[in-house]
Amino acid sequence: MKANPGGQIDLKEVVGRDQIIEQIWDTLEQQSIRIVAERRIGKTTIIKKLAAEPRDGWMPIFQDLEKCHTAFEFAMSVYREVDEFLSIQQRSARKTKDFFKAIGGAEIAGIIKLPIFTGEAPWKEILLSAIHDLVHECETKSDRPVFLWDEVPFMLANINEREGETTSMEILDTLRGLRQTYGGDGLRMVITGSIGLHHVISTLKRQNYANSPVNDTLAIEVRPLDMASAQELAAKLIEGENIQTESLEEAANEVAQLSDCFPYYIHHIVKALKLSGLNGSRDTVEQVVLKQLLDSSDPWELNHYRERIPTYYGDSLELAVLEILDSIASRSKAMSLDELLAELKSTGKLDDREQLIDLLRLITQDHYLSRNTNGHYHFQFPLLQRWWKLARGL
Ligand SMILES: Nc1ncnc2c1ncn2[C@@H]1O[C@H](COP(=O)(O)OP(=O)(O)OP(=O)(O)O)[C@@H](O)[C@H]1O
Ligand SMILES: [Mg+2]
Repeated sequence: MKANPGGQIDLKEVVGRDQIIEQIWDTLEQQSIRIVAERRIGKTTIIKKLAAEPRDGWMPIFQDLEKCHTAFEFAMSVYREVDEFLSIQQRSARKTKDFFKAIGGAEIAGIIKLPIFTGEAPWKEILLSAIHDLVHECETKSDRPVFLWDEVPFMLANINEREGETTSMEILDTLRGLRQTYGGDGLRMVITGSIGLHHVISTLKRQNYANSPVNDTLAIEVRPLDMASAQELAAKLIEGENIQTESLEEAANEVAQLSDCFPYYIHHIVKALKLSGLNGSRDTVEQVVLKQLLDSSDPWELNHYRERIPTYYGDSLELAVLEILDSIASRSKAMSLDELLAELKSTGKLDDREQLIDLLRLITQDHYLSRNTNGHYHFQFPLLQRWWKLARGL
C-alpha cells in the first residue's frame, strides 16, 4: 500500500472502520445521522465506503455538496442524482418534471432548460418534488434511499454568504421536514463535513433562528483509529513504500503512537520517511515527525487549528481562547476550571467564570480539549498539543 496523505484512497485500502460502519447501518434502521468529528479524521472515507458497499436493503446516493453555492444549485444537484437513480430503474422523476414543464422549462436530450427566474428560483419545490419522486417512484420498494451528504456545513456557509441566512435556515427546516414526512417510508440522510455544523447553526441563531434543525438525527462521532488498526495501516504503508526497518512492528508502533492514530498523519509520516530516504526506526520516525511539526510550510496544515479561532469564536474572543489553550498546552497535567480561572485572572485576560465555562464548552465541542473523569481539561490529541506548544513558543 502506498502513502497517499489527503488523496483519494482505494476503498480496499481503508483500514479499521468496520465497526463504525456497522453502527451507522444499524442506526439508519431507526433514524438519520450526523457524523461529527475533527477534521481529517476520515469522515469522507467512511461515507464513500458506505456508498460503495451498502448493506442489503439500502440504496445510497453520495453527494459532495462543496460545489453548491446557492439553494437552487443544491436542489438541482439533488434532482439530478434522483433522476439518474430512477432512470437506472427505468423510472422517472415524474412530479419534478411536471413541475419543470409547468414553469416553462423543457428537457432537451436529457438536459433540463429552465426559464430565467426574475425572483427567487423555486428551489424548495424542486427539492421537495425530487425527494417525493425518489420515495414514490422507486421500483424496488424494499430498498430504502439514504442520502450521503458530505460538506453540508460548508455548503450552508456558502449559501449564507451568497443568499443570506434566511435561505440556510429554510434549507435546514426543509430537510428536517422531509425526514419527518418520508422517514416512515424509509428515507434517511447522513450529513457530514469538515466544518462543525454547530458553528453554522450558531451563526443562524444569532439571526434569531430558534429551531433545532438536526436534533432528530443521531450524532455519531468518528474517533481516530484504534491502536491495532493504526499499527496495521502504518505497517502496510511502510512495507508498501519499501522502507527498510530492523523491526517493522516497532517502527509501525512508533508511527501509530506519534500520529495519535489519525490515518491522515500516518500516511504523512510514512511519506515523509520515504522522502527522507531514512530507515524506519523509532528514532527516525520521531526525527521525521519533529521536522514536519517545525516545517514552516506546514505540510500537515496544522495552522488551521490556529487560523480558524477568530472565525469560530469571533474576533472579540480570539485572545481569550488562545490564552486558555496556551495555559492548558503548557501543562503536562489536566487543569481544573478553578486553576484555569486563577491563571487567567492573574494575567488579566479573563475573569468571568460564566464566560470561561461557556468558552470551554465550545472549545471542547471543537475537539481541541477533552475532560478527564474529574472534569479537568486537557488537549484531546497529544499531537495537536505538541504542535501547539512548538508553534506558540510555549
Ligand atoms: N480508514 C482509513 N484507512 C486508511 N487511510 C485513511 C482512512 N481514513 C482516512 N485515511 C487517510 O486520511 C486522509 C483524509 O481522510 P478523509 O478525507 O476521509 O478525512 P475527512 O475527515 O473527510 O477530512 P476533512 O475534515 O478535511 O473533510 C485520506 O486521504 C487518507 O489518506
Ligand atoms: Mg472530508
